[in-house]
Amino acid sequence: MLLLRSYTRADREGCVALFDSNVPAFFAPAERASFVDYLDDDVVREGIRELVLVDGDRVIACGGLGLRDGEARMCWGIVHRERHGQHLGDLLLLVRLVLGARAGATRGGLDTIPAVTTFFARKGFVVTRAEDDHYGPGIHRRDMELPLTEATVATLRRELAHLLVECEVQVSPDLGL
Ligand SMILES: CC(C)(COP(=O)(O)OP(=O)(O)OC[C@H]1O[C@@H](n2cnc3c(N)ncnc32)[C@H](O)[C@@H]1OP(=O)(O)O)[C@@H](O)C(=O)NCCC(=O)NCCS
Repeated sequence: MLLLRSYTRADREGCVALFDSNVPAFFAPAERASFVDYLDDDVVREGIRELVLVDGDRVIACGGLGLRDGEARMCWGIVHRERHGQHLGDLLLLVRLVLGARAGATRGGLDTIPAVTTFFARKGFVVTRAEDDHYGPGIHRRDMELPLTEATVATLRRELAHLLVECEVQVSPDLGL
């Protein structure tokens, strides 16, 4: 059984290892410092709810939820490279959107690279802005948004309930899902 729970400082190295496992396919080495700053600083300063998915004592995925101005912001959603394709990325995305909606957000938002836009588009996200070379030379940025209507949230909830069973994930009660 996997466990989804809140991030603690003890998960820091495990989360950085998630990042490293996705270099260079998804992240440039130069982005590592930003991710470490995010974990060490942004998460606390910006009140981001950082979640981790653990298999025993091993962190296998992480992702943050920021809430501001009605937006549920998806921050640094990362699945360990060896665990891609097991629907854990979907699960982590759905959990954060559902928690965001519960906290009053009316839309989901994120920025990512073009190679990942289709992953989010499957859930209804659309590209709202494009900036080439934003993250580095040849590494383009795409901003995406998803309106969290009642009907959309109901669908996300159903999909999440299904995935929690399929992926055998237990959710820590303090997440309030
Ligand atoms: C993007 C990411 C989170 C996806 O996680 P994952 O666990 O491999 O994805 P899932 O197994 O949940 O995929 C769900 C579905 O999306 C599809 N999918 C996964 N990645 C995709 C991509 N990059 N483009 C299009 N479809 C994708 C899968 O094929 C699967 O399809 P199915 O439902 O028909 O089987 C993962 O690739 C990752 O951690 N990448 C590095 C970090 C990153 O880029 N994060 C996003 C922005 S910060």
